[in-house]
Amino acid sequence: MTYQNRRTFLKNGLVAGTAILTPMSLMKIMAQTGQNVNSPNNKVLLGVIGTGSRGMHLMQIINDNKNQNGIEIVAICDVYKPHLDEAQAIAPNAKAFEDYRDLLEMKDLDGVIIATPLHVHAAPTIDALNSGLHVFCEKAMARNIEDVHAMALAHYETGKILQIGQQRLFDPKFLRGMDKVHNGDLGIVTQIRAFWHRNNDWRRPVPSPDLERFINWRLYREYSAGLLTELACHHIQVGNWAKRALPIDVRGTGSISYWKDGREVYDNVALIFRYEDGTQFIYDSMIQNKKYGLEVQIMGDKGTLEMETNRFFLENPPAPPKPAGIVQLVQDLERNVFGSVPIGSSSWDAELADTNPGEPIIQNDSTDGTPESLTGFANSIREGKSIPGLFEEGYYGTMWTLLGEQAIDTGEVVKIPQQFVV
Ligand SMILES: NC(=O)c1ccc[n+]([C@@H]2O[C@H](COP(=O)([O-])OP(=O)(O)OC[C@H]3O[C@@H](n4cnc5c(N)ncnc54)[C@H](O)[C@@H]3O)[C@@H](O)[C@H]2O)c1
Repeated sequence: MTYQNRRTFLKNGLVAGTAILTPMSLMKIMAQTGQNVNSPNNKVLLGVIGTGSRGMHLMQIINDNKNQNGIEIVAICDVYKPHLDEAQAIAPNAKAFEDYRDLLEMKDLDGVIIATPLHVHAAPTIDALNSGLHVFCEKAMARNIEDVHAMALAHYETGKILQIGQQRLFDPKFLRGMDKVHNGDLGIVTQIRAFWHRNNDWRRPVPSPDLERFINWRLYREYSAGLLTELACHHIQVGNWAKRALPIDVRGTGSISYWKDGREVYDNVALIFRYEDGTQFIYDSMIQNKKYGLEVQIMGDKGTLEMETNRFFLENPPAPPKPAGIVQLVQDLERNVFGSVPIGSSSWDAELADTNPGEPIIQNDSTDGTPESLTGFANSIREGKSIPGLFEEGYYGTMWTLLGEQAIDTGEVVKIPQQFVV
């Protein structure tokens, strides 16, 4: 479908940004065995552009799950020789390149994985799509909304797959959790809270001072929006997924409150996204305290999900069976003696958190979804078509992250400009 046709299609009633990923559709994706690939033995032949920390991690995952994904890494590319050499050890038979444009000219490639720094996502993605290749591009999509939109246009116009590295879309506990949200198991959801807290300076060691900005690109505004594009975009995508809608606007604040070490990106941010039905999605992130770690809390009038830690809680869980005999007698006595409100003290109980332990969303929580996202990408290539709604989840995850950055920078309430709705 061309971009123009898609816009007409959306105007005729479909809501933009709604994915239809469910455990069933995931199983279907994983079972796909089409033949739309260059290799005669149904292998998917990929190049990896940007073989730093994430690029090499993805390569390792591909190797460790070869039987599921059927991917062969036939090319690697990095401008930084030490990383290229390290990656060559993971894929000894891959052809090595220093310029990604040379890699794109290789014969018989099916697609590329792009794991360069954020500001180097758009150009290789668009060039690869225009060269007829499918692309798995790491999140966030790009450093500015114009580039994000240009990547979307290249995807729609070429018809090639563009999958963004938002692995929660393939994580079974998120898939099952979303089923619960959408089935109504949580009742009416009116608030989502998410946070990502760390306690470290987020700096990487630099072999020589002239490599500071190149290696620590996450800390400089030219290349990254820091906590927002690196972490928040994961949870912002989940918020939209849960609501099956896009926010109507975002407001926020941010500061460099602790790591005053020359970095340019905020080390402390807070955002509020509002949805049409009144739902508020409250997000915060910092890197000077890790007590609460990371979480996505989806709250309805009947139940709550804590997605990252795989927990589901009912507002009114069924009462546990009553203990019999002497145990109950002792408990009743205790309640009578200690349970009454003493004279002269407060006549109300503070509404402390419910200590009900809840239940797991899924029984076997053994993956973060990354291996499955790579298998899903390979299977989409074999089928020769994108998974419906998947790209748009990544698109709006990044788009609303960058609009959140704008809200913080300007102090204004920011809406999505109409031309960036795809
Ligand atoms: N999905 C996730 O959970 C997750 C986790 C970590 C990182 N990431 C994403 O992966 C991407 C890379 O992060 P990282 O931590 O690996 O960064 P990194 O700095 O460790 O690696 C980036 C690599 O790209 C190379 N590079 C830079 N410019 C290049 C160019 N023009 N051509 C080829 N190579 C080039 C660098 O030399 C480096 O080796 C980022 O977008 C990041 O957000 C995603």
